[in-house]
Amino acid sequence: MEFKHVSVLLEECLEALNIKEGGIYVDCTLGGAGHTREILKRLKNGRLIGIDQDQDALSNARVLLKDYDNVTLVHSNFESIKGILAETAPSGVDGILMDLGVSSYQLDEGERGFSYMKDAPLDMRMNREEALSAYEVVNSYSLEELTRIIRDYGEEKFAKRIAQFILKAREGKPVETTGELVEIIKAAIPAKARREGPHPAKRTFQAIRIEVNRELSILHQTVLDAVEALKPEGRLAIITFHSLEDRIVKNTYRELMDPCTCPKNMPCICGKVPTVKVLTKKPIVPGDTEIDENPRSRSAKLRVLEKL
Ligand SMILES: C[S@@+](CC[C@H](N)C(=O)[O-])C[C@H]1O[C@@H](n2cnc3c(N)ncnc32)[C@H](O)[C@@H]1O
Repeated sequence: MEFKHVSVLLEECLEALNIKEGGIYVDCTLGGAGHTREILKRLKNGRLIGIDQDQDALSNARVLLKDYDNVTLVHSNFESIKGILAETAPSGVDGILMDLGVSSYQLDEGERGFSYMKDAPLDMRMNREEALSAYEVVNSYSLEELTRIIRDYGEEKFAKRIAQFILKAREGKPVETTGELVEIIKAAIPAKARREGPHPAKRTFQAIRIEVNRELSILHQTVLDAVEALKPEGRLAIITFHSLEDRIVKNTYRELMDPCTCPKNMPCICGKVPTVKVLTKKPIVPGDTEIDENPRSRSAKLRVLEKL
């Protein structure tokens, strides 16, 4: 299948990265390589390191970027950024981009099981070499675990009912497909709530995807490691797509900008000093034209910092 993905906040990201001649840039989320390609067009005598945990993204990027000899592609989770950059750019990098979440390709490629609109085996792994898939989450997690995930990662108010319905459904035989899961969720949500708002399965699918790919639990440490790898004046730009990940990025930026743990009315004795300057007091969001042209960009938020 053709790798289709429209890059979100493209111009804003390029500006945020402040691409310098001879610089080293890292795209932690290659996807369709849209951001990467535009960085490379602007990068003179520099180098780019592209990371993705999805083999399909890497295969696509290898073809798309074949004319560039200044690109290193790495198949990995970006949580390993410290080790990856220790090998590929030991003296530090000038800019790092993270465009979180799934690509349109992953959503559209039915068999990956990310979409509640397409019937497919329950999978949702960005990296198909990982052991945990949506099948294990749905068929082996306890009532309490499922309720917690659906409530916390999906912000779903019917989390407990949905978890109860999943447990009931799997008594007879395992839940095998996204289609079966959608029907279970629909049955669990009261008819009135089902008629209002987004697709009834949207929140639960988001929750299971976050659990399968550990999307939230790795983010805080990855941001700290990314900042450590930046050279002075290097930039980190992160696009998030929902409030849970945006909160982690915002709070981690704040912690790096204001790390002092001493009471505010006392002189500082902890010795912790800011390591970054946050360049976006408010996140950058897409304009109406971008949202019209690419509705998927609607919830995007870009936050940028500069290393001191
Ligand atoms: C929104 S897409 C990126 C699109 C890309 N910026 C473009 O313009 O084409 C996100 C990509 O990041 C990858 N990804 C998400 N989380 C990751 C992680 N923890 N480590 C490595 N790759 C990840 C996904 O597999 C997906 O291909």
